[in-house]
Amino acid sequence: MYHKPTPEYFGSILSRRLSRRGFMAAGATATAGVTLFGLTELANARTSTESGSSISKAVLQAISPNKLDLVSLSPGLRQQVLIGAGDALFENVPSLTAQDLRSLAWLNPQSAENQLRQFGTNNDALAFFAKPDDPDTGVLCVNHEYVQAELVFAGLPESGRDRARNRESWIKDHPSAVNWMQHAHGVSVLELKKSSKGWHVQKGAPLTRRITALTPMDVHGPARGHDLMKTKADPAGVRVLGTFANCAGGKTPWGTYLTAEENIDDYFGYAKTWAQSSDDERCKEAHRRFPMRERTAYGWDYLDSRFDLRQESQEPFRHGWIVEIDPLDPSSTPKKRTALGRFSHEGANTIVCRDGRVAAYMGDDDKFEYVYKFVTRDSYDPNDREANRDLLDHGTLYVARFDASGEGEWLPLVHDESGPLNSGNGFADQGEVVIKCRAAADILGATPMDRPEDVEPNPVTGRVYMALTKNGDRKAEQKIFNGREINLGPDAANPRNDNDYGHIIELIEDSDDAASTRFRWELFLLAGDPRREDSRFFTHQEEITAGNIRPQDVYYAGFADASAVSPIACPDNLGFDPTGRLWVVTDSDGDLIANDGCFVVPTTGPDRGKLVQVVSAPIGAEVCGCEFTPDGKTLFLSIQHPGSGGTVDAPVSHWPDGEGLPARSAIIAISRENDEPL
Ligand code: FEO
Ligand code: CA
Ligand code: CA
Ligand code: CA
Repeated sequence: MYHKPTPEYFGSILSRRLSRRGFMAAGATATAGVTLFGLTELANARTSTESGSSISKAVLQAISPNKLDLVSLSPGLRQQVLIGAGDALFENVPSLTAQDLRSLAWLNPQSAENQLRQFGTNNDALAFFAKPDDPDTGVLCVNHEYVQAELVFAGLPESGRDRARNRESWIKDHPSAVNWMQHAHGVSVLELKKSSKGWHVQKGAPLTRRITALTPMDVHGPARGHDLMKTKADPAGVRVLGTFANCAGGKTPWGTYLTAEENIDDYFGYAKTWAQSSDDERCKEAHRRFPMRERTAYGWDYLDSRFDLRQESQEPFRHGWIVEIDPLDPSSTPKKRTALGRFSHEGANTIVCRDGRVAAYMGDDDKFEYVYKFVTRDSYDPNDREANRDLLDHGTLYVARFDASGEGEWLPLVHDESGPLNSGNGFADQGEVVIKCRAAADILGATPMDRPEDVEPNPVTGRVYMALTKNGDRKAEQKIFNGREINLGPDAANPRNDNDYGHIIELIEDSDDAASTRFRWELFLLAGDPRREDSRFFTHQEEITAGNIRPQDVYYAGFADASAVSPIACPDNLGFDPTGRLWVVTDSDGDLIANDGCFVVPTTGPDRGKLVQVVSAPIGAEVCGCEFTPDGKTLFLSIQHPGSGGTVDAPVSHWPDGEGLPARSAIIAISRENDEPL
């Protein structure tokens, strides 16, 4: 059990030192940071580079892309499965096992209740908070993005022409399924301990907690109490039930977990029917750039009226936010931080600015959507956790414009009657700006990107990396897309037509300060498969211009040896080890190259761009999470939806339980066999 006031977490130690001494010069090697900042954590993680010996010892050999139904690793690495979907988090509750999933006998009102004390489905973002006085213990926060119904409900009607109707009658015949799904979403807070046998979850430890799609949360920031946030159940617009569709996440320097509400549109139904019969033009306009569905993916709307737009046309405005959770206080109420805008939030990754304010970088994961940054008004106080409690309620939200010159600007999304975000343009106040964030960003001229996923600052260099996962619709064409007319054609920052493999951009803030409103940017990676005979391997960024890049062409930050880099498709989540190397996990549909995986790439020094694959996931899984312990010795990964492409009745993956059992999502811990940092 941890005691408040909060002890120092690695993140806060690191960020305070960074903010005090300034970021290291761009381009310097990560290990130089050890000397520059006196970061003992870094020094511990990787010993001095002066001899060069520790670097060579640290080199991880690339594995070949493969389609095996297992987690394969670079030589010298080992893995353990930490926890999987359905595992009991407390002593007095049974687990829902892979064996149980073989029939539907498990599904009843009691199993829905049990799910409140079990690990949820489809684990995604991971955040580890080490106990400061004991590096072998800590808290792990995990979010549960969604339920892939065909992977858990035996006998579910197959997709096909009558899928929607069949699903509707199936849901109505199995009402416990909705309650169970709602409880399987949200967040798990776990306490971990490391022993000679590796990490394990401490079942029922004091901080253990489940947050679900029904947990009450407070609305904070400019949308609190806004007219558009009011519903029958909450006429004041201040309290919302639950979080769901949680994708990536992040953590704050003061040791809280940020979880990002992404594809919330999959949950709200009858949007078209409602729009046809409603004359509420203000509400319709608020839905224009983040439209809900007529038929939902999950069918909650059949049984729970708040997911039915005909009943509650404004409930969707209460979702699509960043939620802040204090993992050290199991009784705390999660807070929806509306100052950070409403869109398909992928994650929120923070860093302390030079003057002590805090920046959070965020992606809006949809085709032709934007990259955002929030900078707090007030400074972070490393010595007073309580003082940072509501830091994310006040500050400036920006959206990025990437110019062909290689420069760019953060455009402030601020309500101003004498500026473009005024009531004449449909923004009566800052609440309306954040609720209709995409529409506000349109007006400012933000650059539509190829599905921004994780946007994450390197804690060693301060440079920011953004994964643009893919965009098959990028082509020269002017049309209405997602509620506004735009040119879908390639541009300098999204140079590829038919961008099936995705890319990564590196952003360098002016003065290396995360509070800057101007930046420079470079292409860091054009993902793809250099082994393809028809692929061109670019080594100079100047050769890459908008539209001259084919889907199969590649670029590895200028690294010149095509034989030394791994193929990669669809970068999604990013992470950094304590030495500043970038780690990338992927979410392709598995048929571009092979199964998804985890990759590492130096961002500085002679090996900048030398990306190698170190993990390959089981069949059908995407890899998420990508979180290191502060000592750099353990990498936690989320293996999400193994077996996707099959069903629980006809599984295509049997990971992790094996023996013909259906697959389950699970968290793995990866370390070196010799227990050195990765
Ligand atoms: Fe849920 Fe953006 O991936
Ligand atoms: Ca993701
Ligand atoms: Ca990340
Ligand atoms: Ca993704």
